[in-house]
Amino acid sequence: MFNIQTTDANILETKSLGYIFFFEQDKVVLNKEILELIPFAQEITKQREFKGSNGQILDLTAQYQGQAITCLLVGIGTHKNDILSLEHYRRAIAKCVRVIEKFKLTTISIELPYAKIFNISTQRLAYETTVVLLKSGYHFDEFITEKSARVSINSEIYLCSNNIENNKEINDGINLGNVVGKAINDARTWCDTPPSRLTPAILAHKAKEIADKNNLKITIFNQSDITKMGMGGLEGVAQGSQHECKFVILEYNCNRPNAQTIGLVGKGITFDSGGLSIKPANSMETMKDDMAGAAIVISTMQVIANTRPGVNVIAFAPIAENMPSGTAIKPGDVLRFYNGKTAEVKNTDAEGRLILADALSYAVKNYNLNAIIDIATLTGACKYAVGPGYAALLSQHDDLAAKIQAAAKISGDKVWPLPMDDDYKNAIRCDIADISNTGSPAYLAGTITAAFFLQHFVSDIPWVHLDIAAIAFDVPDKPYFRSGATGFGVRLFTDLILNWNK
Ligand code: BES
Ligand code: ZN
Ligand code: ZN
Repeated sequence: MFNIQTTDANILETKSLGYIFFFEQDKVVLNKEILELIPFAQEITKQREFKGSNGQILDLTAQYQGQAITCLLVGIGTHKNDILSLEHYRRAIAKCVRVIEKFKLTTISIELPYAKIFNISTQRLAYETTVVLLKSGYHFDEFITEKSARVSINSEIYLCSNNIENNKEINDGINLGNVVGKAINDARTWCDTPPSRLTPAILAHKAKEIADKNNLKITIFNQSDITKMGMGGLEGVAQGSQHECKFVILEYNCNRPNAQTIGLVGKGITFDSGGLSIKPANSMETMKDDMAGAAIVISTMQVIANTRPGVNVIAFAPIAENMPSGTAIKPGDVLRFYNGKTAEVKNTDAEGRLILADALSYAVKNYNLNAIIDIATLTGACKYAVGPGYAALLSQHDDLAAKIQAAAKISGDKVWPLPMDDDYKNAIRCDIADISNTGSPAYLAGTITAAFFLQHFVSDIPWVHLDIAAIAFDVPDKPYFRSGATGFGVRLFTDLILNWNK
C-alpha cells in the first residue's frame, strides 16, 4: 500500500530512504539536491553512460545525513509533447516501483518532472503519477502464506515540486488519483479473487458496500425477481449453477435540471466453464476474470460518487455463474429476453451476450438514457483481433464513439474500432428463433457478430460496446502490471464522465 501525499518542504527535508528524479534524453543536468545526496553523481552518470534515454534507470546508493539512501535517476527519453511520452513516463514510474519493492524503500520522494513535457497540467501529472504508482504497487498476495514471499510493501510517497505554487494542483491531482487508483485496484482484487470466493452474491455484496459507503442508490434483484421480470437470458445462464444470479443497479444522481444520463453495463460472469459447451481445461484457467466488466462498472461508481460530475450515471451489472449440470441450458434451447425477443442457444459458452441482452433491455426500457456503454470480456476472438493492448470498440454511433476514443487516448486505457458493418447482421440469423447466440462460421469475426447480437437489445439509444477480452487480465510486458487483472476501463470511464459536458 502506498500512501501518496505532497509536501511544502524541499525534497531533501523529507528525509526519505529513496529519491526519484527524471531526465529527458541528453538533458542530464544534475541539480543541487542530487549533488547533495550523491556527491559523486556527476562522475557516475558519465561512467555508466546515463543519458536519460527512455526507460533507463540508474540506481545509486549513498550515505546522507547518517542514513543509507537510494537515488533513482530515471530516463524518459525524447519528449514530443504527447500521449506517448506520457505513457513512457507511466512505465518509468512503474519500473521505479519494482526497485522500491526490491530495496524495501518505505519512504520515497519523487521530484515531479515539468508537466509541460507531456503537454498536460501539473494537476494531471500528479494524478497520472498517483494512479500509476497505485497500479504498480498492487499485488494479489493474500493467499501467499509466507509473509516474506509477498512483494507488496507499505510506503510513504511524497510528490515534490521545485515550485511551491504548484502544491494545490499537485494535491488535487493526488486526491483524484487516490480515488481512481483505489477503484482500479478494487476491481482487480475482485477479478483476481478465486471464483468460489467471489460468487454472484458476494460480488453483489461488494456493490452494496460501495453504495453504502458512497451514498449511492442500489437495487439488487435476486433470481426470483429476475425470473418474474422475464429475464430469460440471465436466468438461463444461471440455471446450471448452484449459485443464484443477481442483477445489480447502482445510481448516481447529480441533481441538476436537464442533466444527461449515461448507462454503464458490465458483464458479470463470476466463472465461465462454458456450460454444457464446456471449455477445454486451459481455456478455463482464467475464467474467474469473466466478471471484469461488472467489476469495472461497479468500481467506477466510487469515482463518480467522489467527484460528483454534472451528469447522471447508472451502472448495471448482471451477475451469474456459467456451469454445466443436469439443470443447465442446453445447445438448442431457446430463451426469451426482457424485451420479448428470443434467441436459440447454439453454444452455451456464448453466455455473456445472453446476460447482457437482459441488462441492456432493462436499462433502455426503464431509464431515460442519453448514452449506453457496455464493457465485457465477451469473445476470445477479440484477442486475435486487437491483441492485449486494446479494447475493441464497436458502435454505429459516431459521436459517442469519438467521445470514447478521445477519453481512451488521454486516459491510457486504449480502444480500437472494429467495423460494425450492417452486412454482418445476417451472421446471427436463426431458423427457429429471432436470433442465434453464435455467429455463423462463414462470418468468422466473432467479436463483431457478438456486437450485432447485443444490438438487438439497445433500441436506438447511442451505444458503444467495448470488448475487453484481450486486455482485462494477463497483459504481457507492461511494467505496471504483473499477472492478473488490469482494471481496464476505470480510467477510461473516469475521463469520459468527468469531461462529459465539455
Ligand atoms: N468469456 C468468454 C470469452 C473470453 C475468452 C474472454 C478468453 C476472455 C478470454 C466468452 O464467454 C466465450 O467463451 N465466448 C465464446 C463465444 C463463442 C462460443 C461464440 C468464444 O469466444 O469462444
Ligand atoms: Zn463463455
Ligand atoms: Zn464468458
